[in-house]
Amino acid sequence: MKFSGTTVTTLFTVISPSILAATGYGGDNHVGFDALSNRGNARIVLRQVRETASASGSGIRSSEMTAPQTSSAQAAGSETATATASFSLHSINPTAIPLSAINTDEHATSTRQLKHTAAPGATPTFIPDAPALPNAALLKPTDYPPLDQVPPVDSEQVKMWVEEVKKTGVVIPGLEPSQPGGCSNNSAFAMDSDRCWWTCGGCTRPTDIVECPAAMDWGLTYDDGPSLYSSDLLAYLDEVKIKSTFFVVGSRVISHPDILQAEYMAGHQIAVHTWSHASLTTLTNEEIIAELGWTKKVIKDVLGVTPNMMRPPTGDIDDRVRAISQAMGLTPVMWSRASDTSLFDTDDFNIRSGKTTAHEVLQNWGAIMKNATSRSSGFIVLAHDLFEQTVQMATGYILPDALSHQPPFNIQPIISCQEKEMKDAYLETAGSEKNSPIISEAISSGEVTLTGSANSAKKTEESKASSASFITLNIGVWLLLVVTVLMTV
Ligand SMILES: *[C@@H]1O[C@H](CO)[C@@H](O)[C@H](O)[C@H]1NC(C)=O
Ligand SMILES: *[C@@H]1O[C@H](CO)[C@@H](O)[C@H](O)[C@H]1NC(C)=O
Ligand SMILES: [Zn+2]
Repeated sequence: MKFSGTTVTTLFTVISPSILAATGYGGDNHVGFDALSNRGNARIVLRQVRETASASGSGIRSSEMTAPQTSSAQAAGSETATATASFSLHSINPTAIPLSAINTDEHATSTRQLKHTAAPGATPTFIPDAPALPNAALLKPTDYPPLDQVPPVDSEQVKMWVEEVKKTGVVIPGLEPSQPGGCSNNSAFAMDSDRCWWTCGGCTRPTDIVECPAAMDWGLTYDDGPSLYSSDLLAYLDEVKIKSTFFVVGSRVISHPDILQAEYMAGHQIAVHTWSHASLTTLTNEEIIAELGWTKKVIKDVLGVTPNMMRPPTGDIDDRVRAISQAMGLTPVMWSRASDTSLFDTDDFNIRSGKTTAHEVLQNWGAIMKNATSRSSGFIVLAHDLFEQTVQMATGYILPDALSHQPPFNIQPIISCQEKEMKDAYLETAGSEKNSPIISEAISSGEVTLTGSANSAKKTEESKASSASFITLNIGVWLLLVVTVLMTV
């Protein structure tokens, strides 16, 4: 790969040195070795090279993993990276697909079969009193809206959810939906701090989960599945004994209910990522309710439990989307930022489209690691289990690197890094006292107001700062809500 700029130093070490044979690698400014590994049919040649900038400052080569059988893919993917950062990996998976072969031209490779298909009626051991697992084979796609479209809002089901949202008394701010095209196509909205539109400037409210409280905690998340490739990720997570949170798309759950069950039964946290992966701020209130409602419903129909966390697709959330999510019992979960322009996003999603190379993803990962280890709190990284490329990056490079980091990261689902138990991630098992914590938290932070007699707490400037005095002001409202919730349960 070609680099412009300063020194690029890349060091690969491998998990199982025993399967590698190091040989010398000559050259003026080259230090490295070729390593051969034989694992089943996958013969991987790892070439480790340490190089320094040439006098001209251009055409710097960095280390490259090559596999003889993928030379054409390598040629296609190897010339596009430009970067000035340097990074190193502590470890890679000896079965990793060569970096140069993880690119837009990649075609579906065989995935591992699910190790266990969950049996209907089974109950997860890690959630006391969890409902029995429904029979995924009985799921009828015709009972749900068309896949990958914003669901219609004139169905009896959606009308019922709209009523339920009204009954919570949560005031949904009267914000006009944004136009497609993001901040640049909505400049007035982008600058309106009252909207707290995350997409345009990273505004968050106290009820958004944006990090793990404890330093070195990594709240692991994967979005957009379940997909065929999720089974590869599941097998790896199982192997290394770590659990994740999966933000699933309702339409994908219809396609792969068995994979969703496998994720849940393996002890991972399941949460909502909408029905059609629409940008929520562009939708009407009813459409947002339909997107979230159908996803909650299909998860409940497949797992027997209803999640209480959501992630807005592309992070597209404002105070209107927040209020609706909260009224529907869903806490928004974002991903961490180092600054307004620096997100904890490896951009793995864009390898598929060719907008990003696998090498750039590793550089992004290296930058995230630097920030992650120097911050005083834990962190959340955006990553995906939709495409084979994203899963290959996770299982081949990113997770092996993170797992061999010293001092170690505590890699865990979001619910765990928030110091809660897995049962607290679902409406049915959280216990009644925890069923609607999100609404009371939202009210006490001044983020949500109630209609009717409780409507004394109008959102004010102070509320946005969630000052102590405003929380006190809200205690009456909070108590009223608790009574309302108890009466409606
Ligand atoms: C920008 O918004 C207009 C409507 O105001 C819309 O027609 C157009 O498609 C949007 N542009 C993009 C790039 O989405
Ligand atoms: C990490 O932080 C530095 C500055 O503190 C910034 O330049 C860099 O872009 C950040 N990277 C990530 C991925 O957050
Ligand atoms: Zn997504």
